[in-house]
Amino acid sequence: MTFTPTSRISAFAQDVLDGLNRPVRQLSSKWFYDDRGTELFRQIMRCPEYYLTEAEACIYRQSVPQLIGALDGRPFDLIELGAGDGSKTQILIEEFLRVGLRFSYRPIDLSGSALAELGNLIKLRWPTLDFDPIQADYFEALNRLGTATGGRQRLLLFPGANIGNFSPAEAVAVLQRLYSFLSPDDLLLTGFDLKKDPSMVLAAYNDADGLTAAFNLNLLVRINRELGGNFELDCWRHWETYDPAEGAARSFLLPIEPQTVHLQALKRQFQFRAWEPIAVEISQKYNLREIEGMADAAGFSFQDHFTDDRLLFTNSLWRVPNP
Ligand code: AVI
Repeated sequence: MTFTPTSRISAFAQDVLDGLNRPVRQLSSKWFYDDRGTELFRQIMRCPEYYLTEAEACIYRQSVPQLIGALDGRPFDLIELGAGDGSKTQILIEEFLRVGLRFSYRPIDLSGSALAELGNLIKLRWPTLDFDPIQADYFEALNRLGTATGGRQRLLLFPGANIGNFSPAEAVAVLQRLYSFLSPDDLLLTGFDLKKDPSMVLAAYNDADGLTAAFNLNLLVRINRELGGNFELDCWRHWETYDPAEGAARSFLLPIEPQTVHLQALKRQFQFRAWEPIAVEISQKYNLREIEGMADAAGFSFQDHFTDDRLLFTNSLWRVPNP
């Protein structure tokens, strides 16, 4: 694909410009997910070091009865933020249908192809399920949904430790915004990765096949393609750190030698010294007490933690209090 500059700067271009102008340069991990990035993330989720996916699937399998017990018996909407391939949610759907619950499934995702694939799968497995996907970012989609009609309850799923890609302060702000879309007695089930053996965390973001490195470096590939950049890809390395006190796993991209990078879409060039980092992702880990504090800070009433046997991960269930 050849790059054609346009006079209007895209949200991606603006974000890259702002991030590369910071004292510690930064690119947001929300831009990881072009087609190639989405595919690499799917591979990461299947790789042995990335324990998060299997831990959460195992929790879903074990905790459906408690989750069903937390519902209040009204028909409800199962709304999923960042549905991806929906494979874990199908564990819930199967059981919800088996026990005769009345609900609709409303997955939200930015990727139209992911939602289309999910739609095909749902139609094949459960042709009569009320399935209504929304292709948009979380808040735009929730805005479109408006308030629940017909006295329906909402069960909002925020799976996959996606909340960990925000700093703790940002995460509380996100959870407060989610609260504002819900009504008394609605439920929020959020996946949080837990603090654990640092070597296990580091291995998850430093997999032996180099999938995470390729996933992070793909952001530079995307900048080259979409913003007319000339990042010299062979000169950049993926670097992961984990601070066990703070609970923050951080990904960086580092140039092994000085670089001058031109970005045609921004009509700008950026000088990088050797080993000058670009921070690209935070994957925040929490302990159970910290999570309960976040429920409180966001206005929810904490209900329960569903954890796996090895205490790697929790799906934390919160309710909107009924005043
Ligand atoms: C999507 N998110 C929760 C993943 C994580 O673990 O932070 C993204 C990821 N980055 C590298 N590997 C996976």
